[in-house]
Amino acid sequence: MEKPFKKVFIKTFGCQMNVYDSGRMADIMAGLGYEKTDNPEEADVIIINTCHIREKASDKVFSELGRYTPFKKQNPNLIIVVAGCVVQAFADEFLARAKGVDIALGPQCYHLLGQKLLEVGAQRGIRVVEADFPTESKFDFLPKHTDCAAVSFLAIQEGCDRFCSYCVVPYTRGAEYSRPFADVVAEAKDMVAKGAKEIVLLGQNVNAWHGEDENGKASSLDKLIYALAKIEGLYRIRFVTSYPSDMTDELIEAFGKEPKLMPYLHLPIQSGSDKVLKAMNRRYTVQEYSKIIEKLRAVRADIAISSDFIVGFAGENEDDFNNTLKLLDKVRFASSFSFKYSPRAGTVGAAMKGQVPEDIKGERLTVLQAKLQEHQLSFNKNCLGKELDVLIEGKGSKAGEFVGHSPYMQTVIVPFDEDIVGRIVKVKITKAALNNLVGEAV
Ligand code: SAH
Ligand code: SF4
Ligand code: F3S
Repeated sequence: MEKPFKKVFIKTFGCQMNVYDSGRMADIMAGLGYEKTDNPEEADVIIINTCHIREKASDKVFSELGRYTPFKKQNPNLIIVVAGCVVQAFADEFLARAKGVDIALGPQCYHLLGQKLLEVGAQRGIRVVEADFPTESKFDFLPKHTDCAAVSFLAIQEGCDRFCSYCVVPYTRGAEYSRPFADVVAEAKDMVAKGAKEIVLLGQNVNAWHGEDENGKASSLDKLIYALAKIEGLYRIRFVTSYPSDMTDELIEAFGKEPKLMPYLHLPIQSGSDKVLKAMNRRYTVQEYSKIIEKLRAVRADIAISSDFIVGFAGENEDDFNNTLKLLDKVRFASSFSFKYSPRAGTVGAAMKGQVPEDIKGERLTVLQAKLQEHQLSFNKNCLGKELDVLIEGKGSKAGEFVGHSPYMQTVIVPFDEDIVGRIVKVKITKAALNNLVGEAV
């Protein structure tokens, strides 16, 4: 007998864009009658959404396949789909590299998921790969959202033309594309109607968003934010990830003017050395970056700034690294991500002279992270005794506890005796640790 519902298991690696993409694939699957499951063993379709950014991330797809392909013995009808940036990186060669995969879809082709499932379902044993950059936009083919979490992502811009010399994204996501103004507003309204209270606008270079307005003219992110802020029932807006040179004065001012725009900005600098920034093909200097931070703090004194760092890029010496440490002391980031440089095949950086040995990268990362953590802890401790608005996103790990985020993006744990998921609660902070705050609802 046929099961009443078929089940899909989705595993997501990589950035928030992949989280959004996985959600959209879940929406496609829901339209085909598939329910989501957390148990891959009971799934009829397994989707692995992959990331190619660093070698370790990219290699994971192969270990994941090693785990799931044996399930085909018990369930010969199981279909395994691999999506995302690793597929794009290998394109037509992907199926030869990845055994056990039935369907492989690049990031610009996942709107074809339903069609490909039908093809493979109708003729078991065939394997398909779609890794083109189609001229049509997948966004025009995606269904409406089925449901939305309190905090939901919305992709407004995709791809990148910047070609930082370490980065695979321009190759895996393709050229920069901004979705039209009206499409974004329509999707945001749909998301709020389906439960979203906070929308995080996504793009690999999100602050360069320049979608067409109703007059066919290029708009800008500040204008989009003001328009979205008018949606009733939407309480919070954030955007990620921004490129320093695209921080316009208008966008900076929005942090002072628009109360729904949260006082948090992820603005990756990558290195505190102008020489290394140049080698990375990042088109700003440390001084220009510092100036942007100054302007942001002038309009919104309490804004939390976060960043990404790469240590051990080709040519980075002790002086360069010390300049990064100096920058840390100057800016005092509220939170950060930091990585050892991972040379990626096909990028300019991978072929550069002066590659830094792994052990030195490791030492530098340890020193950098110690300082970043010190600043993060002190930012969090500074919140002790304060009352912060927390958007409750879900239940905590212990019974009677709920978890959400502060305006500054800190994770906050709140005990409460009734279900408060989806609500904004004023919380008095009583404990501050490196990775979370604890408080009491007031
Ligand atoms: N578009 C964003 C970054 C996207 S990738 C920006 O321009 O800031 C996310 C982060 O991964 C980057 O900020 C960088 O710190 C890191 N990263 C990218 N490629 C890397 C590589 N080859 N090795 C190590 N870290 C890398
Ligand atoms: Fe990669 Fe640079 Fe583009 Fe960011 S701006 S996605 S780091 S190429
Ligand atoms: Fe990874 Fe692709 Fe995002 S490489 S970081 S999933 S854009």
